[in-house]
Amino acid sequence: MSDSRGSIHGEWSSRWAFILAATGSAVGLGNIWKFPYITGENGGGAFVLVYLICIAVIGIPIMMAEIMIGRRGRRSPINTMRVLAKQGRHSPHWKYLGWTGVVAGFLIISYYSVIAGWAMAYVFRSAGAAFEGATADGVASIFSELVSDPERLIAWHSIFMVLTMIVVSRGVASGLEKAVRYLMPSLFVLLLLLLGYSMSTGAFMQGVSFMFNPNFSALSGEAILIAMGHAFFTLSLGMGAIMVYGSYLNKDTSIAKTSITIALADTSVALVAGLAIFPIVFANDLEAAAGPGLIFQTLPLAFGHMPGGTLFGTLFFILLVFAAWSSAISLIEPAVTWLVETLHMDRVRASVYSGLAAWLLGIGTVFSFNLWSDVTFFGKTFFDLLDYLTANIMLPLGGLAIALFAGWIMVRGTVKEELKLQHPRMFQLWYLLVRYVTPVAVIIVFISLQG
Ligand code: PHE
Repeated sequence: MSDSRGSIHGEWSSRWAFILAATGSAVGLGNIWKFPYITGENGGGAFVLVYLICIAVIGIPIMMAEIMIGRRGRRSPINTMRVLAKQGRHSPHWKYLGWTGVVAGFLIISYYSVIAGWAMAYVFRSAGAAFEGATADGVASIFSELVSDPERLIAWHSIFMVLTMIVVSRGVASGLEKAVRYLMPSLFVLLLLLLGYSMSTGAFMQGVSFMFNPNFSALSGEAILIAMGHAFFTLSLGMGAIMVYGSYLNKDTSIAKTSITIALADTSVALVAGLAIFPIVFANDLEAAAGPGLIFQTLPLAFGHMPGGTLFGTLFFILLVFAAWSSAISLIEPAVTWLVETLHMDRVRASVYSGLAAWLLGIGTVFSFNLWSDVTFFGKTFFDLLDYLTANIMLPLGGLAIALFAGWIMVRGTVKEELKLQHPRMFQLWYLLVRYVTPVAVIIVFISLQG
């Protein structure tokens, strides 16, 4: 079926267009904002190692499974799961997996947009030369001034959400792929520039050793869960984002090669971001475990002291906003395609409704940094709770179910035909991973948490 028809929502113009869009989805705040701060909070090296293992053993096979399922189903994740399960004579209740993904994406974008708003605010701070000659204290107070002001945060959050809805309402396959082509490489170049600065701080080796010298005694069971959750988050897996992008993919593209390319690009961005940030942390006696404000309290120091820093800083935050933008779009796309397919809404209306609902929920995250900073649920603020629930619980469980679906529910022959791996050995390896290794690994991490 899938070989003869495309998706009603459109198709990528080429294999590269898909790689760019999927990389645009994967590379985002997760790599530059979140990876460094959770690495700092979880003790460095051992955490990074677990994260890398999760990318290789769990992330890449599940990414292949998601793209494969998406391309086979050619519909929104919810309808894809329903139709493919039916074809394999299994219960249509698999569609609920699509649903949990839609909900996860919706919860994530609600806070993602708030943080992207911080990056937007920083474009203007930087352009106004606020970081020139800055001290660590000065930079910290710029940050706390921003996050303690709910009105400003809501304004930026609203602007970001509107930008996202504009692209989503026009269809992902049109404007977006062009933007990503130039912006992602530029972002990477600026990260390399920051890396150059970090090398000059005198604390570069300290940063390297923090990130790559594993100290297993610092690794808690919870840190393992966070590392695994982040592997899903950073590759945009477990909620249907990559599945929906896969549904716009033409049938000749190699899913394996593409997945590896995306994972490599994504991981490099995260590692370079970490290597740029930690030396600045140590050179200035800052706190590695500073939490979500980490990049906003470290990178301005680099821009404040390097030649051309005002320009580079401005550019950097602009590109960070673009990176967040191309990820945000994919977070909401599964919801929008479902509204279009099932409720026959037009795309614009579907985008506006989903955006509005996510915007409203985002207000909770805004308040969790100021008015509600003392309000906690299970010891976590509203933002922390949403982040924990989505990245560490919903995405891994979604990924687990996707692996089971590809490994046990879909007919083996169909899966093999769709993946078209050149070497039979490769297929066997992948099949072993999604049938046994990935599900067992995810389950073990969850169980070990109870102990
Ligand atoms: N991968 C994105 C990032 O790292 C976030 C994301 C998660 C996007 C899940 C889509 C789906 O910023």
